[in-house]
Amino acid sequence: MKLTGPFKQIVTLANLPLRGKLSDDELEIIAEGGILVNEGKILKTGSFQNLKDEFPDAELELTENEQVCLPAFTDSHTHICFGGNRANDFALRNAGKTYLEIAETGGGIWSSVQHTRAASEGELLKTTLERINFLISLGITTIEIKSGYGLDVENELKMLRVIKKAQKITKATLVPTCLSAHLKPRDFAGSSEEYLTYILEEILPKVKEENLAQRVDIFIEKSAFLPEESKEFLLKAKELGFEITVHADQFTSGSSRIAVEVGAKSADHLEATVDEDIRFIAESDTVATALPGASLGLGEKFTPARKILDAGGILAIASDWNPGSAPMGNLITQASILATFEKLSTAEVLAGITFRSAFALNLEDRGTLEKGRKADFVTFRTDNFQNILYQQGRLQAASVFIDGEKQNL
Ligand code: NIG
Ligand code: FE
Repeated sequence: MKLTGPFKQIVTLANLPLRGKLSDDELEIIAEGGILVNEGKILKTGSFQNLKDEFPDAELELTENEQVCLPAFTDSHTHICFGGNRANDFALRNAGKTYLEIAETGGGIWSSVQHTRAASEGELLKTTLERINFLISLGITTIEIKSGYGLDVENELKMLRVIKKAQKITKATLVPTCLSAHLKPRDFAGSSEEYLTYILEEILPKVKEENLAQRVDIFIEKSAFLPEESKEFLLKAKELGFEITVHADQFTSGSSRIAVEVGAKSADHLEATVDEDIRFIAESDTVATALPGASLGLGEKFTPARKILDAGGILAIASDWNPGSAPMGNLITQASILATFEKLSTAEVLAGITFRSAFALNLEDRGTLEKGRKADFVTFRTDNFQNILYQQGRLQAASVFIDGEKQNL
């Protein structure tokens, strides 16, 4: 048993609703607090002094006084397993070309596919772990990672095996997702419908066999897969026993409806979602995931997070870290900027990167600091938790704990 503290403030994020708007006065803040951990789980949070008196045998992990503590963050949407980079795409976009134009002329996702195919498992593992470690240093201890730059049996499995190997090395929780339906690869001789069938018949059974992922994603967009074929694909993937998540409404509206109709766990992007569809998703159990890093990377508008919350939706915020549309990878900076543009409360942002994003990954054992939860938490050297978002990412995590153990950052 270990008691960590004292903290100037512990922001527990406990007792908050899964959906809808939140105001900051709903946040539970424990002053001069401590966290008691046993076997990787939280036993109790409360006044540090009271816990010390109540559990005199607990081992002490003392912190300086000027720190605040929050549940560690969950990044529920990333593409951090990739080869190469797309700095040239970034420059071309800033010179006036659109994301879709660049894709048509050999840049875009296809260029990352070629680099990822050319990379060995060892190279991919090394760079993926470097990105994982960067995310951990931000206080993120649960990370979803998609395939989707392999786009054939061999290379999709290669990516997912790399993620599985990374899980054996890192203490962070990795959640793999099969995104073979990211794009129809240029070297596939057949229609996009035939490629989706190929995924269902050739890739997903092997993913199951090797237990490489429990989730399936698709990019529904004019340049990728069309709504009708996507819906059929998702229903079949569901029949195979996969959980569903969708890249929806990034440039064109309509696909978030499909996500809701097939019972997807989350619909991510939603920059182009129209008001009627905002209501539709907000009334459903599908998590609406904003990806401000993609808006910042592409110069596109932000996901209508305010409207989603006001309509009662479950809003998560994730980084979408990928080599093309979202190269930054700093979820704290991105979530903070989303808050200023969308007028989100601190509570709404913190919920969106903790228990609400963990819910999007079906991980309801984490994201708040209360009895029984996984003891993943992050501390910042400040006396006021508001400084974290106020400083837009400049205030770095002082320490990160996974299963109650302090990590070397
Ligand atoms: O979420 N929109 C599709 N997929 C990624 C981008 C991937 C890429 O550009 O490499 C996204 O933004
Ligand atoms: Fe994405």
